[in-house]
Amino acid sequence: MSGLFDDLRDLYQEVILDHGRKPRNFRRLEDATATARGDNPMCGDRIELFVKQGADGTIADAAFQGRGCAISTASASLMTEVVKGKTAEQAKALGAAFRELAMTGTCPDCGAALADDMERLAPLSGVHEFPSRVKCATLAWHALNAALDGTKEASSE
Ligand code: FES
Repeated sequence: MSGLFDDLRDLYQEVILDHGRKPRNFRRLEDATATARGDNPMCGDRIELFVKQGADGTIADAAFQGRGCAISTASASLMTEVVKGKTAEQAKALGAAFRELAMTGTCPDCGAALADDMERLAPLSGVHEFPSRVKCATLAWHALNAALDGTKEASSE
């Protein structure tokens, strides 16, 4: 029997495959104001993240390059889309909420302010059932924190 949850699962799967195969913002940002590398030591995959912040700190653009599995690529792709227009603080809060979603499958404290963004990131919520894949999903967000903090290197360990 195909219920609502199966349909949702299929839809989520499609979003991950689409972003994994055709990642958005998969390029170098020549005028990036911050960059960082993200490493997943479990598999050796790594990405390089580029962020361009305006004078007031708002993220004007974000892009990435590198090699990773479908989940890490899809997650980085979705991330570069949702962080545009956010302040560093807002982007970090969203990252914390996303990590909660990836680890538990839900984010009870996310609240209305993050609802739209969390809905866009929800296709990755299924990774909580596969603990080793949580690192794939959070890799780009670790790199984002490192870029925004100026630490340049991040490990999803
Ligand atoms: Fe390497 Fe997913 S298996 S990041």
